[in-house]
Amino acid sequence: MANGRARLGWRGVVLMAFCGPAGCGGGGESREEPIDGQYAYTVRCSYCHDVPNGIGAELTAKVLAGYSTVGALDRYLRVAMPHETPGSLTDAEYQAILAYIIESRGLVVGKVDYRALPDSIALRVPE
Ligand code: HEC
Repeated sequence: MANGRARLGWRGVVLMAFCGPAGCGGGGESREEPIDGQYAYTVRCSYCHDVPNGIGAELTAKVLAGYSTVGALDRYLRVAMPHETPGSLTDAEYQAILAYIIESRGLVVGKVDYRALPDSIALRVPE
C-alpha cells in the first residue's frame, strides 16, 4: 500500500506527470463526471418536447413505451435526438437522460438501477 508509487516504476510516474489527476482524456467514459439526467433533459430536450411552442411531441409514458424495450429507446435517442443535432450528446448524457425519462415516467417495473438497465428490459405504461 504505502509503496504503491514505487511499484509503478518510471513509466507510471511519467504517465501521471503527463496526464495529471483527471486522467488522460481521449473521450474515455471513465473520467466523465456523473450527469444529472433531469438537468440534461431540461437543457437538451425540454424546449422541444415539453411543448406548447416546441416542435416535438410530449413524451408521455404511452409514447415512450411504444419503443418496447430499453435498448430500442436508447438506440432511437442516440440516432435521432436532439432532432436538429442527432448524436451530439456524450455517451454519459444519453445514458443519464434515458435513465431519467424511464424513471420519471415509471416505464420499468420494480426497484432497479436506472443507470444500468439491460437493453432487453421491457417498457410499459404504468397503471
Ligand atoms: C429541436 C427540437 C428537438 C429536440 C432538442 C429534441 N427533440 Fe425529440 N423530437 C423532435 C421532433 C420534431 C420529433 C419527431 C421526429 C420524427 O418523428 O421524425 C422528436 C421525436 C422524439 C421521440 C419520439 C417520439 C415518438 O412519438 O415516437 C423521442 C422519444 C424524443 N424525441 C426524445 C428526445 C430526447 C430525449 C431529447 C433530448 C436528448 C430530444 N428528443 C430532443 C424534436 C426535438
